[in-house]
Amino acid sequence: MKKIVVTGGAGQIAYNLLFSLANGDLFGSNEPLSLQLLEIPEALPALEGVKMELEDCAFPLLQEIRIGSDPEKIFEGATHAFLLGAKPRGPGMERSDLLKENGVIFIDQGKALNRKADKNVKVLVVGNPCNTNCLIALKNAPDLNPRHFFAMTALDERRAQHQVAKKHGMGVKDVSKITIWGNHSSTLVPDVSHATILGRPAKDHFSDPSWLRGEFVSTVQQRGAAIIKARGKSSAASAAHSALNAMKSIITPTLAGQWYSMGVYSKGNPYGIDQDLVFSFPCRTDVGGEVSIVPGLAWDDWLKEKIKLSEQELQQEREAIKPL
Ligand code: NAD
Ligand code: LMR
Repeated sequence: MKKIVVTGGAGQIAYNLLFSLANGDLFGSNEPLSLQLLEIPEALPALEGVKMELEDCAFPLLQEIRIGSDPEKIFEGATHAFLLGAKPRGPGMERSDLLKENGVIFIDQGKALNRKADKNVKVLVVGNPCNTNCLIALKNAPDLNPRHFFAMTALDERRAQHQVAKKHGMGVKDVSKITIWGNHSSTLVPDVSHATILGRPAKDHFSDPSWLRGEFVSTVQQRGAAIIKARGKSSAASAAHSALNAMKSIITPTLAGQWYSMGVYSKGNPYGIDQDLVFSFPCRTDVGGEVSIVPGLAWDDWLKEKIKLSEQELQQEREAIKPL
C-alpha cells in the first residue's frame, strides 16, 4: 500500500490534489492507498470536512485517511510526501519573503520524515520558497537520501510550454524538452535552446529570437504573480495538477530522449552549479526509479549569466536560513 502524506491538507492546493490522488491518478487503479494529512491545529476542523468529502466519494482504492497535527504521527511509514503546508505570498511579495515564516516548518517536517517515514520516501516540496524549503528539509533528514527530495518547478515548465505553443499556434503536445533552470522565483530561467517543436529544434521556428529572451522569460517568471493579481490568491488547481505530474515524473521511467525539470539536490551536478543547493535542472528517472540530472546541455553566454543570477539568489537564501 502506498502511504501518501499531504501537508497543508486543508489548503487550496490540497483541495485540488487529494481527490485525484484518491482516485488513483498517480499510482493507477490497482494500488491501494492511505492518505495521511497534516494540518496546524487551528485548521483541523476544516481538514475534518475534507476527510468527510473524501469518504463521501467512496474511492475504491482509499483504504485509510489519517488526519492530525503531529508530524511524527502523520509521517509514519510515508512512501510519498507532498509538502504543501506553508503560507502563500500576497500581492507585491517575492516568494523569498516567506522564508523566515515558512522555513521553520521544514525543520520539524524534515526531522519527522527522518524518524518516521519509509527509508525510501520520495518528498516533493511545493510550499514556497520551495527550493530552499526543500534544502532545509533534506538537511534535517540525514538518514534519508538527499536525492529523494525535490522542489517543484513542473508548473514553470508547463507555463513555458504553453507560452511557446501559443506563440506558434500549436498544441502543447508538439513542444517538448523545455528546461527550467535555477530557483522557483522571478530569477528562474526558462530555456528553449534544446527544446523541440514537432520534433525540430525550437530555435528554427523563431524568426525573432528577441521574444525568447524578453517577453517569454518575463511572462514565465512573473506568471505566479500575475495569477495572484488576477485571482487575489495564488495558483491552486494548476499547482495541484503540476504536483501530481511532478511526482509521476519522479517515480516513472522517463521516455527515451525526453526530460523534465525539477529542483534537485545539486551535489555532484555536471553544470558547475554550487554543490549545496536545491536547483532546477533537466532530469530523467531511470527504470530503477532513481532520478539523475541530464548532462551536457550547452549554455550560451546569455543563458549562463541568467542561470548564475538564479544560483546567486539561492546562495543568498541559503545564507538567510543559516540562523535556522
Ligand atoms: P493555503 O494557505 O491555501 O494552504 C496552506 C495550508 O498549509 C493551510 O491550510 C495551512 O493551515 C497549512 N499549514 C501551514 N503551516 C503548516 C504546517 N506547519 N504543517 C501543516 N500544514 C500547515 O496555501 P496554498 O495555496 O495551498 O499554497 C501552499 C504553498 O504552496 C504556498 O507556500 C504557496 O506559495 C506554494 N505554491 C507553490 C507552487 C510551486 O510551483 N512550487 C505553486 C503554487 C503554490
Ligand atoms: C506559483 O508559481 O504560482 C506559486 O509559486 C505561487 C506564487 O507565489 O507565485
